[in-house]
Order: sequence, then structure tokens, then C-alpha cells
Amino acid sequence: MGYDPRYPQKHYDQLADDEWTRLTRSRRGELNYVVHIDVLRHHIRGDMDVLEIGAGTGIYTKELVHMAHRLVVADLSQVQLDLNREHMRELNLLSLVDEYRLLDLINLGELNDASFDAVVCIGGPLSYLLDQEKRGVQEALRIVKPGGIAIFGVMSLISTLIRFMGALKSERDAIGIDNLRWVLETGIQDRDHTPTSEHYCHMMTSANLDSLLADEKVEVIERRASGLLSLATEDSLAEVRTDDELWELVVERELAWSKLPGALDLGSNIVYVVKKY
Ligand SMILES: C[S@@+](CC[C@H](N)C(=O)[O-])C[C@H]1O[C@@H](n2cnc3c(N)ncnc32)[C@H](O)[C@@H]1O
Repeated sequence: MGYDPRYPQKHYDQLADDEWTRLTRSRRGELNYVVHIDVLRHHIRGDMDVLEIGAGTGIYTKELVHMAHRLVVADLSQVQLDLNREHMRELNLLSLVDEYRLLDLINLGELNDASFDAVVCIGGPLSYLLDQEKRGVQEALRIVKPGGIAIFGVMSLISTLIRFMGALKSERDAIGIDNLRWVLETGIQDRDHTPTSEHYCHMMTSANLDSLLADEKVEVIERRASGLLSLATEDSLAEVRTDDELWELVVERELAWSKLPGALDLGSNIVYVVKKY
């Protein structure tokens, strides 16, 4: 099955404002968030023109508006874009967003080549492109100036498998062992192999990201696991969260260990920062 934008569009239209709390309603989400923010703080400077593609309801938009010089916010889902605008209005940040655009990552045609210092593409837009992933990466890089950066974040296959191990037997019973093996080998959930779900996506390993970027004129300047300590149970994290001192320590370790090469595939998301030649 190839990429069909109607599926992610419908998925995120339906999720609507549930997305606004996706990283605050669980401690797992919180850990995922702190690493992404850490990456953004390190790489987005106050003199940068930034495109945030796949911005969703604005969890990172509300931070990026303070970090960037100029911020263009884009998404495939009109519902998500409208919600983003609404949240920025509520937070009195709307005037800091330069522009909202309904755009698909595989076709940023309206945006000029080399017109941004940075493109931020985190929380998964790249995970929905299936056979168009390469095109998505190239489109993102096309609009970045030489010397500029792109930040890509994708869902991690291994972390997802660990988290959903309890559902593996029922998944095998529903789709059969051959399909399940294919899903685990490729990370791809599509109509041909998982007829039980329309959440068609590619959960990746770092090897997938490496090969997607291998032929591009980029240097990978940072690789991070985000939400590494989310491998703990939500209950145990929630207990730690009740104690400020302990939570601070856990966040400190999450940020430090998220940089370890050996941790890369174990975070709930894998984040790469690349510099365009
Ligand atoms: C999990 S949400 C992440 C939103 C936000 N970046 C965050 O991390 O909270 C994924 C977002 O990517 C958008 N998206 C999915 N495929 C896309 C595509 N091909 N082009 C642009 N946006 C896309 C969805 O509509 C959704 O808003």
C-alpha cells in the first residue's frame, strides 16, 4: 500500500483536540516532551525563520514562537490547524505565528527553495508517508537554506513493540503470524498486512532514518531517544512524579541518557537533527 494522505488526515481530524493533551496526560508523554524541548532549545535560535510541519494542536508551536524569529505553522489536517490557531489565541501567542498553512510534507510546493533556516518535523509526520518518505525528507530539505537544519522525529518500532507486548497474541490471532512478522520486520502497518487498523504508519528504527538520510546532502548533528525512561510502567512513573525531587532526577537522567547511542531505538520517538550542506 502506498501513501494516501486521506488516512492520516482523517485520523487527526477525528483525534482533534485530544491531541492537545497527548504529552501531558501521561508521565510517559511528559518525558517524551522534555527531550523534544531540549532538542529545540539547543538548535532553534532567535534569528531563525522556521517552518513547523505537522504541528498538530500546537504543543511545540507554543514554545517555538518564543524561540524563532519567524514561525510558519503547517499541517495536513485542517482540524489540527484550526485547533492550533485556537490554542495560540487562548495563550495570547497568535500574533507571534507568522502564518498558518494547510500543507502535506510531500508537497511544500508553495514554499520557495532555501527559504527557511530550520524545518521542525517532529511527533511523526514522517511516519505516515510510507512509500513517499524519501520525498518528504527531500521536500523538507528543499526549503531549508544551506547551513540550515531539519529536525525529524519518528515513532520508534522497538519501543512500541515493548509497550504493546501484552497485545501481541491478540494481534497475531487477528492478522496471522506472517503478517505480524512482516509488521515487526518492516515496522509498517498498512492495509495489506493490518486490516484491523486504519492507522497506517511506519514505526521506524534508527537504521530506517539513517538510510532515509544517507543520500542527502546533510550531516546528522544529533541523534536522540525521546521518552527512553517511558519504558517504565505508567504507574511507577506516576508515583515518582508525586515527588518533585525524584522526578527532577529522572528527568535529568532522561535528558542525559537520551544522548547515548545505545539508547537511540528505545525511546518512544527517535529524533534526528541534520544540517544541510
Ligand atoms: C502525532 S501528531 C504530532 C503533532 C505535533 N508535531 C506534536 O508533536 O505534538 C502528527 C501530526 O502530523 C500531521 N501530519 C501527518 N501526516 C502529515 C503530512 N504528510 N504532512 C503534514 N502533516 C502531517 C497530522 O495531521 C498531525 O497533526
